[in-house]
Amino acid sequence: MAKRTLTGTTLDTIVSLAKRRGFVFQSSEIYGGLSSVWDYGPVGVELKRNVKDAWWKSMVRERDDVVGIDASILMHPDVWVASGHLDSFTDPLVECQECHRRFRQDQIEGDTCPDCGGAFGEPRQFNLMFKTFMGPVEDSSATVYLRPETAQAMFVNFENVQTSSRKKIPFGIAQIGKSFRNEITPGNFTFRTREFEQMEMEFFCEPGTDDEWHDYWMNFSMDWFKKFGIRGEKLMLRVHDADELPHYSKASADVEYEFPWGWGELETISNRTDFDLKAHAEKSGKDLSYFDDQKKERYVPFVVEPAMGADRSALAFLLDAYDEEGEGKDMRVVLRFHPDIAPFQVAVLPLSKKDTLSPTARRVYDLLLANFNAQYDDTQSIGRRYRRQDEIGTPLCVTVDFDTLDDDSVTIRNRDTMEQVRVPIDNLEAAIREQLNTMRADCQE
Ligand code: GAP
Repeated sequence: MAKRTLTGTTLDTIVSLAKRRGFVFQSSEIYGGLSSVWDYGPVGVELKRNVKDAWWKSMVRERDDVVGIDASILMHPDVWVASGHLDSFTDPLVECQECHRRFRQDQIEGDTCPDCGGAFGEPRQFNLMFKTFMGPVEDSSATVYLRPETAQAMFVNFENVQTSSRKKIPFGIAQIGKSFRNEITPGNFTFRTREFEQMEMEFFCEPGTDDEWHDYWMNFSMDWFKKFGIRGEKLMLRVHDADELPHYSKASADVEYEFPWGWGELETISNRTDFDLKAHAEKSGKDLSYFDDQKKERYVPFVVEPAMGADRSALAFLLDAYDEEGEGKDMRVVLRFHPDIAPFQVAVLPLSKKDTLSPTARRVYDLLLANFNAQYDDTQSIGRRYRRQDEIGTPLCVTVDFDTLDDDSVTIRNRDTMEQVRVPIDNLEAAIREQLNTMRADCQE
């Protein structure tokens, strides 16, 4: 299969398309917006849901060695003491003595403020965890934290999950959910925000097998992005240098994507060793070891963790799908999403809004709704509606015209080739499935 050549685009173009077409809006926009906080619109929410569903299916539903959980965002404050986040989840912060802007020290070049040239004060470590209070009293005994990673819930529930699911090591626990970090310098649209969603899996394995599992999950992660259509040349696996390893990790590697501003992390796959289980066992006083009844031995499992960002991945899918075809007034923008990632798989477009066509078009739409994520659109000219569906990446449009009333057939128009085929409504579902499968295959290299 030939490499897909897509034109790509700038971040500004994507931000404006995202707003125009209902992918992403700025939070609280009517009040001037809240900086670096974003809301997903009717199209974006489908995109992000598809990304999460694709991950959950590959990670949990299609495997018998991974189970899921959905834990609370708020956890016992001791969790963050034991995990090391209270002490170590910090970034170096410097403040300009002139304009008092604050920066992450490791993200600025030179020794002076990039805004006003002023000198910086002494750097200090800034903890990224958001604090709040539980209950009606706002004192230190009521302090709780918004989780900065979903992972800790998998460690503290290890025994509950293992005994209730009767899983034997090696096995994993997966979760998708919100995390919060009070980033000093968020930015690049939804890439770095203070509230975001993570898709994480903790894979518990026998000590000594951890390096092998680390390799396995690094390969799995790279293949996952490619399977759902991200081009291989836009992805790389970057192994962490020793001085950038998180405090819990013996080895980490990032899956990076080439964003318009350069390479950026989508996922980190870490070998967390037995750090977390041992730390929680010590702090809680509960034994979190595992008895291996085949080996007749007890050990604290090692953990390999693929940790992916849902928002960053959705942004990468959006950017990677962008293509411009043709020139001048004939230019069309197409998002060439993989059919499982595309917000909608099919759109039903009656040629005219007239009452004569609506009942048949509605019947076709109802038929498709049972099996596909479908949209109904009867506003504006058919040409404009095709362009709109191209811009949100809908793989197929089904047009209901006046001939449909006689021959009970409709036209399927393909997003990528723009070819149109006429099919009887009775065969429509099968014909759509076939075209979507071809498009899935086209996304592979
Ligand atoms: N449990 C390990 C962990 O949290 P991480 O590399 O800090 O590892 C995992 O985070 C993923 O979460 C990142 O690769 C990224 O995709 C996403 N992520 C982290 N911080 C983020 C932020 N401020 N905004 C958006 N996504 C973020």
